Amino acid sequence: MGKPVFCISTPIYYVNDVPHIGHSYTTIAADVLARYKRMVGYDVFFLTGTDEHGQKIQRAARANNEEPSVFINRVVSGFKRLWEKLCISNDDFIRTSEDRHVNRVQKVFQKIYEKGDIYLGMYEGWYCIPCESFWLDSQLVNNNCPDCSRPVEKLKEENYFFRLSKYRDRIIEHFEKHSDFIRPISRRNELWKRIMSGMDDISVSRAAVEWGIPVPMNTKHTIYVWIDALLNYITALGYDDEPERFNKYWPANVHIIGKEILWFHGVIWPAILMSLEIEVPHQIHAHGWWTIEGQKISKSLGNAIDPIAITDTYGVDAYRYFILREVPFGLDGNFSYTALINRINSDLGNDLGNLLHRTLTMVEKYFDGVLPVYCSESRLGQELIDHATLLKDKIEIEMRELQFSRCLEAIWEFVAMTNKFVEDSKPWVLAKDKTRSADLRTVIYNLTEAIRTISVYIYPFMPNTAVEVQKQLGLSASGEPYPDLKTEWGGIKHSTRVNKGKPLFPRVEMPEAGKLGGA
Ligand code: MSP
Repeated sequence: MGKPVFCISTPIYYVNDVPHIGHSYTTIAADVLARYKRMVGYDVFFLTGTDEHGQKIQRAARANNEEPSVFINRVVSGFKRLWEKLCISNDDFIRTSEDRHVNRVQKVFQKIYEKGDIYLGMYEGWYCIPCESFWLDSQLVNNNCPDCSRPVEKLKEENYFFRLSKYRDRIIEHFEKHSDFIRPISRRNELWKRIMSGMDDISVSRAAVEWGIPVPMNTKHTIYVWIDALLNYITALGYDDEPERFNKYWPANVHIIGKEILWFHGVIWPAILMSLEIEVPHQIHAHGWWTIEGQKISKSLGNAIDPIAITDTYGVDAYRYFILREVPFGLDGNFSYTALINRINSDLGNDLGNLLHRTLTMVEKYFDGVLPVYCSESRLGQELIDHATLLKDKIEIEMRELQFSRCLEAIWEFVAMTNKFVEDSKPWVLAKDKTRSADLRTVIYNLTEAIRTISVYIYPFMPNTAVEVQKQLGLSASGEPYPDLKTEWGGIKHSTRVNKGKPLFPRVEMPEAGKLGGA
């Protein structure tokens, strides 16, 4: 039997501007889940990419005095560079300007049209360019976009419409039958209310926007950018001319998105799939939004933190750790340098870094750098052994719910327990007493084994640190991480020669005001 399959995606990001911390958040979260699933034996397909059409991109290119095709290539390479820097392990990167996407989108549009679910009509209402969304008079809040509060533009044009209303009952039924379709539950409830207040047909083409995929039966129109974008999840998998690849990975297990695009993913997307008679994804998980030092991330405020600059200063793994540790996934969070630096100094430097360093110092001092054979009669460290089994189950449960911060809390509880074990067992006292040499061997062995276990669990979150810890433990000379999750106690062999290096996560000082790494 082949491996079980797991398909995960991020939204595809607009390329009107350079990526910021918000984009990196979703992508890091998806990467952690992908790495974890691979580690526990899944065949993972992890998809990300870029959303390159529509009025917003067209305007951004014009504002830069560039052709859209030139402009997007430049911004896309910035996204790709960032994902590489952040150690993102995506299996594919789809660009909506690629032929494979464009051709498949046109085929899908034609198919839905022929089925009678797309028809020509007249749209009169409002349009929010930053959100690329249509709004009716009654939906505006203070005459602005109800989602982003920015001004909207009046629109009156001939549009193709999708019969969203036809799928209302099926969407409702799907929500009722699949209580875990939308996570977290609070967002599911908000969406449910909106569904209950009505589901009208929606525009799916633009007459006045040139930068897009032409509507196949009327090339004066371009396909509405949200329809174009949502279809990336299946065009990347080869729908419908690569059935083997498509059937292997679809339906996706989880689309990870930000909370502001839940309507598109939780309602419009399943309706389109229903029209195509394709299964809908198992789950859509909407996370919260980051603010920066208490303020909304915005170009005009100039506070959009560049993740490259921040990782150059503080390190990739520290950033990955912080961003998932600081805020429960699903809730909004606030980024502050003080919080980041505190996490680095305390959780990473004091708790984890010191634990490794002091342990390896003792291996060197008491055993000339070679791991001793433990003594099965000594019970010292039994609580660590017992807890490691619990930890494995706990992590599996939290990962299923995408509760990354709770996973990290659980790992750090184990780090704290291991540190306490050093304090309680006092190897420096045992070393002075010849009659306790069996206990000393056992304590040192169990300590290194606890650290090895920690390195396995932190791997999805902090892949570079996991490898570094394993290297220092004498396990990963090649620089590759453990190939799989060896959680059974005893994974580290006695007689292994450790390879103590520099302490991990040296202390960082708070920079002076004005010298913070903004974009
Ligand atoms: N192109 C659409 C998505 C199409 S998916 C079929 C889009 N792109 S976007 O560039 O605006 O990126 C939106 C995503 O970036 C959000 O859903 C979220 O995942 C992430 N974030 C952007 N800003 C954010 C914050 N301030 N905080 C957290 N994440 C946010 O919408």
